[in-house]
This record gives sequence, C-alpha cells and structure tokens, in this order.
Amino acid sequence: MATDFDAAAAEWDTPEKVERSRVLAHEILRRVPVQQDWVALDVGAGTGQLSWVVGPHVARMIVTDPSGGMLDVARTRAEDDPDRYDVRQVDLTSEPLGEKVDLVISAMTLHHVPDTQALLQALRETLYPGGWIALADLDADPENLFHDDDHDGHRGIDRDDLAARLRDLGFDDVTTETAATVFKNKHGIEREFSVFLATGRLPRT
Ligand SMILES: C[S@@+](CC[C@H](N)C(=O)[O-])C[C@H]1O[C@@H](n2cnc3c(N)ncnc32)[C@H](O)[C@@H]1O
Repeated sequence: MATDFDAAAAEWDTPEKVERSRVLAHEILRRVPVQQDWVALDVGAGTGQLSWVVGPHVARMIVTDPSGGMLDVARTRAEDDPDRYDVRQVDLTSEPLGEKVDLVISAMTLHHVPDTQALLQALRETLYPGGWIALADLDADPENLFHDDDHDGHRGIDRDDLAARLRDLGFDDVTTETAATVFKNKHGIEREFSVFLATGRLPRT
C-alpha cells in the first residue's frame, strides 16, 4: 500500500533532518552500552538516517519501514555494506520480524503509528532478554503546531506516558531526556520543538 512517506522519500534527506538524526544517534550511543557484536533494528527507519550512524557500532542493522519509497532510498546506501545492512519492508504492528535483536532504535516514528501499543508490544517481543530499546520522538504537541493541518497521526508523544508504558511492558531503568531541538515554520511562524529519547532495557532473565 502506498503511503504519504513514499511521496516524501526523494526529498526526505534535507541537511536539517540528517543533522537531527546524527544528534539523536549520538545520544543513543551515549546512553546505551552498544556492543559491536549486537544485531540492531531501526523501526520506521525511513531513508535510514539513524541506521547509518548507529550501524558501524553493531554487527548488523535491520532497517525497517512500511514505506517502500523510503526504503528505496535506504537500499541504495545499504548496498555499500550489504553484510551490515538488511533493509526490509515490514509493518511490525501486523507482522513479526522473525528474529530476535539486541537493540531497537527509532526516530520520529511512534507518533505516526496508529496503534502505538501494538508496536511497543511487538518490539518487546523482538528483543532478547537484556536487550535495549531507544525511541526518540517529538514531545507532546497538543495544538499540532509541528505538522501540517491535515496530519492524521498523533500530536507528538507524551514522554511520561511512554515511560510508564515501557515499564508496564517489563523494561527496567527507563529514562527520558531531551535529546534534540527542531525548528519548524508553520503558517509563517518559526517555532522550536523538543525531541526526547526514551531508553530502557529488559531484565536478563
Ligand atoms: C517522520 S518519518 C521518520 C523517518 C526516520 N526515522 C527519520 O528520522 O528520518 C516516520 C516514519 O514512520 C514510518 N511508519 C509509518 N507507520 C509505521 C508503522 N506502523 N511502523 C513503523 N514505521 C511506520 C513512515 O513510513 C516513516 O518512514
């Protein structure tokens, strides 16, 4: 099924978005003890901006998104290192990944997912015991000042509610911190938005 993101793919990698992803990826690397032999999963990876920064720190990065258009862009870059990058078109809210991973990462995706709880549960099932989750997303935006007026996703994500849901799913050491600032102009008004990073890990047994 074609998505709005298919149409956006060719123009997605603006310098601002690439820089935002670089900052978020470095925050993930700062807060998660990433190991070189890990398998990681980027959920809602889009063109793979987060994957390319975290990827060199793990053995394998599974780059997933439901949008074929976004992944077409990701595939051209993944071809440079096919042993490390595994690009897959999948919606994990309705299809299992089919393997376990050590780390799940994501940037600016959860607020575009209709059933966020289904995705969080699927991600929890995808992690090995002791595995880590690191989800970056737009803070709550109740007046929808970030997206266009026809935005049909969530108005950002309440970081405290997400932290509580991660704890309910069994994650320990859950933290949320502001990880990046994004500037965006809507209807001629430039505004500043915060992006948080939520991390947590599963018990080892
Ligand atoms: C704002 S983009 C972020 C892309 C990328 N992570 C980045 O930071 O550039 C949101 C992404 O979420 C994806 N998405 C939409 N529904 C999804 C779902 N159910 N599961 C995973 N990703 C989804 C979209 O296709 C899109 O690529």
